[in-house]
Amino acid sequence: MEEVELHKKIKKSINNEVAAFHFDSYYEGLYEPLGFSINLPSKRVRPILCILAAMLYSGSEEEAMDAALGIEYFHTFTLIHDDIMDDAEMRRGESTLYKKNGLNTAILSGDVLYTIALQKFESYDAATYKQIMVIFNEASKKVCEGQQKDMEFESAENIELSEYLKMIENKTAVLAAAALKIGAVIGKASESDQKLIYDLGINIGMTFQLMDDYLDSFGDELKFGKKIGGDIIQKKKTYLLLKSLESLESEQSSDLRRLIENETLSEKDKINKVKAYFTEAQADKALLSLADTYYKQGKEIFAQLQGNESIKNALNTFVSSLLNRNF
Ligand code: IPE
Ligand code: IPE
Ligand code: MG
Ligand code: MG
Ligand code: MG
Repeated sequence: MEEVELHKKIKKSINNEVAAFHFDSYYEGLYEPLGFSINLPSKRVRPILCILAAMLYSGSEEEAMDAALGIEYFHTFTLIHDDIMDDAEMRRGESTLYKKNGLNTAILSGDVLYTIALQKFESYDAATYKQIMVIFNEASKKVCEGQQKDMEFESAENIELSEYLKMIENKTAVLAAAALKIGAVIGKASESDQKLIYDLGINIGMTFQLMDDYLDSFGDELKFGKKIGGDIIQKKKTYLLLKSLESLESEQSSDLRRLIENETLSEKDKINKVKAYFTEAQADKALLSLADTYYKQGKEIFAQLQGNESIKNALNTFVSSLLNRNF
């Protein structure tokens, strides 16, 4: 039970720090929308990973907090821009920032949030700051690479599962990996553990994005906080779609392709019909099994990590809760 309480306790501290965000009211039009976004209910996965990684070695929650906040702010910035790219209506249970405040404000609020994220790293000593920036900037670049491919795949015809996996590694997994590695740097972990924990993060991140794809079709809107079926409407080449196209008989597979392109059906009908193909092809089961494979690979890496045993357990509990999530 103790482990559950630790990640919850950390989440509470993160939320308190985020709530303390204040801004110059003269620029309310810029800061108010993002202040609203960062305070909406969210899982805080990446900052929790960062703090737990620091605590696994010789770091504390307090020491890792600024880096954790920087990572969470960066993440929220990517969501603000992602919602523009994905034409998404709902985020964290509310209307998306660009729908509510307009495109230009969403672009600029995202930009300033990215800058605020970078400023959070400035509180570390020069050597640590340098290490953090090297890890962070590499991750940030890869997120853009992944996001670009995610968009290009919408209108591309034959995407291999391997290309999809590389795309989600870049858009999602690298940030989880960077969060853990930055935490490990702050905790002064050995070079070999920094590398191991990064690989652990990649596996966690792959599981996480696969589950996100799953929930986008099969989740509960109220819990998930995003519109169900958004990926289908956006013609996203998710694992569910690619696996279905691969597994179904060729005729059915062609029908599914046509259905995805169909612009005359109502959204609701289209989503339900596509989901029926996903289930028919057992792509949902295949997805859950692949998510579990990444989780198990992560567990193997986990076993090789040095560090405090009780924090290891806390990290393990937190990670397994992500695999079984419905939010
Ligand atoms: C959403 O991230 C974007 C993905 C990479 C799937 P989260 O699912 O962590 O969203 P919040 O931060 O909890 O809202
Ligand atoms: C988003 O992937 C990844 C990043 C924001 C970098 P998705 O587009 O699947 O995320 P959601 O589902 O909108 O949260
Ligand atoms: Mg997206
Ligand atoms: Mg999106
Ligand atoms: Mg998604």
